[in-house]
Amino acid sequence: MPILSVQHLSISDQQKDIVKNVSFSIGKGEWFACLGESGSGKSLTASAIVRLLPSHITVSSGNVVFGEQNLLQLTRKEIQMIRGKEIACIFQDYQGTFTPFMRIGKQIDEMVKTHTDWSYKQRKDEILRSFKEINLPETRVYESYPFQLSGGQLQRAAIAQALVLKPKLIIADEPTTALDSITAANVLKQLELLRGKTNCAVFFITHDLRLVKRYADRASVMLNGEIVESGSAESLIKHPKHDVTKRLFSAIPSLKKPAETGVVS
Ligand SMILES: Nc1ncnc2c1ncn2[C@@H]1O[C@H](COP(=O)(O)OP(=O)(O)OP(=O)(O)O)[C@@H](O)[C@H]1O
Ligand SMILES: [Mg+2]
Repeated sequence: MPILSVQHLSISDQQKDIVKNVSFSIGKGEWFACLGESGSGKSLTASAIVRLLPSHITVSSGNVVFGEQNLLQLTRKEIQMIRGKEIACIFQDYQGTFTPFMRIGKQIDEMVKTHTDWSYKQRKDEILRSFKEINLPETRVYESYPFQLSGGQLQRAAIAQALVLKPKLIIADEPTTALDSITAANVLKQLELLRGKTNCAVFFITHDLRLVKRYADRASVMLNGEIVESGSAESLIKHPKHDVTKRLFSAIPSLKKPAETGVVS
């Protein structure tokens, strides 16, 4: 049974459907990539899964089944209990993750407190561990206000927050776009390690096809709000069928000839 099953999901801005009849499922421990050109509906699909669509945008039809629950039918309180604990999100716009006037450690602590009965010490230890795992200076970040950190540190703090409770599903919307390549590789390594340890699934939105090649089990490609092609990452890379998939992959020559270029980083 899949951990997440998105069934015939359509999302509308009141005038028209922006995302149309999108279906896919993600198995336990599976790394599922979502690709597509800018504006194709990837982020809105991710936001709809966790019920974080902007107020004027709504799900017009479909189901989002997580485990055995239809997330679209839960009360606000019920979905809040799932978000952060069972499904963690790392969004493209990580700037919105933290409020400006509270220390980062305190903000993450509030979130952990909501979802666990851990003592203060246990919560702090886990938060510091999570920072350390992605090479953040843990004590300093814990004590800092958001404006005291660089953009990359802030993004990693958002990632640390997402990973701290070892969720069953991680929704990662271009999580490494703002990071330098070494930090990005480290963050992805941590995601991969967490997956190995906890068998969590990953819904991974990216433009970086090298990451699809390296990490994803399966992938789908979106165009104008629809999924136009899905399959194993390997088959999509080797035998793309739709023009948009061909276009995406042909933009990175090293993907076509991995044997000649060695390991793709
Ligand atoms: N808050 C919003 N209000 C109105 N329209 C929106 C909003 N967010 C997204 N859209 C529109 O919905 C469509 C899909 O947007 P979405 O953000 O899902 O694209 P995306 O595939 O994530 O693109 P990118 O790769 O650039 O992040 C786009 O046409 C976009 O303009
Ligand atoms: Mg997006």
